[in-house]
Amino acid sequence: MSVPCVAVERERGEAVRERLAAADLLDGDHEIAVEDGSIYIPVTDASAVPADLADRIVERDAAERDRPRTPADLLGYEPSLERLGDIVILDEDDDGRAREIADAVMASDLPCATVLNRASPIEGELRVRRWDVLAGNGTETVHREYGHEFALDVAEVYFSPRLATERHRVVETVEPGDFVVDMFAGVGPYAIPMAARNSEVVACDLNEAAIAYLEENAERNGVTDRVTALAGDVRETTDAYADAADRLVMNLPHSADAFLDTAVSLAGEECVIHYYDIQGEDDPFGPGTRAIRAAVGDEYDVAVETERVVRSYAPHEYNVCLDVRLTRA
Ligand SMILES: C[S@@+](CC[C@H](N)C(=O)[O-])C[C@H]1O[C@@H](n2cnc3c(N)ncnc32)[C@H](O)[C@@H]1O
Repeated sequence: MSVPCVAVERERGEAVRERLAAADLLDGDHEIAVEDGSIYIPVTDASAVPADLADRIVERDAAERDRPRTPADLLGYEPSLERLGDIVILDEDDDGRAREIADAVMASDLPCATVLNRASPIEGELRVRRWDVLAGNGTETVHREYGHEFALDVAEVYFSPRLATERHRVVETVEPGDFVVDMFAGVGPYAIPMAARNSEVVACDLNEAAIAYLEENAERNGVTDRVTALAGDVRETTDAYADAADRLVMNLPHSADAFLDTAVSLAGEECVIHYYDIQGEDDPFGPGTRAIRAAVGDEYDVAVETERVVRSYAPHEYNVCLDVRLTRA
């Protein structure tokens, strides 16, 4: 196909290409070609080429670039998508638009087995949501995060790929030999990478399906010997580990405060709590800090080591994390 190209001597090619790229004039759909010492750079708009290159414009047959077709190529707009393993997740209120995006995703070159649209907020004690299945037929997938694999079924368990960076931050603080209790472990995105750093992890969850996946994931990632999985309410399943924990993960943001007595009973002589909370922007860290101090009483000295906004949760509300060190008084 004949397209406008800027033709310059080969030695000037990279400098001219950079100028055209900076002016947003590169035609990404066609290949740059080199012939007889000249380089031919396809451009999107010949009339916008800088004046000193205007006499270099030629019409030329250029090969189409072989690049994967994206959903945006097919839709003419950039849809908002989230990837979880081979599942593509949408958050569309309009059913027609959701269907249009799902069709484009499946027709594109994006590797994808299933397209889901959110059908409810995250609900209930098990923190699971309902989904509309728009394409494909499964809600189970294998997600990869920082070198670890997590099998999960989004219709049965909680999992958010958006928290990957935050999880990695916490995981990186774990020392070999630490004894960790992950009180609300889900399918193991904290517990498994922590065990891979040679810590001993007790991972608890009320959701039996999550614990079944956690056990499978421990096996997939070669850490079964360092992970003990417990199905049930953490207030009832962890008595055997009283006074032992070097580190506690408390990722149940709306109601972690109701579990602080259990956390204090699990804490060893010195223990770091990674405490997640959702609070208003006016005082995002105060309620959590006060709740921890009240639960600890005179038993421990409390040092808040990190106050971190993980993400915006809703207008004027943040999902936050407090890293708090308890030292037996
Ligand atoms: C927000 S999810 C976090 C899961 C996991 N830590 C993650 O990052 O993917 C909270 C988890 O706490 C579990 N849960 C809720 N109440 C619980 C309880 N009383 N004891 C143990 N687990 C509980 C839910 O089933 C859910 O899997």
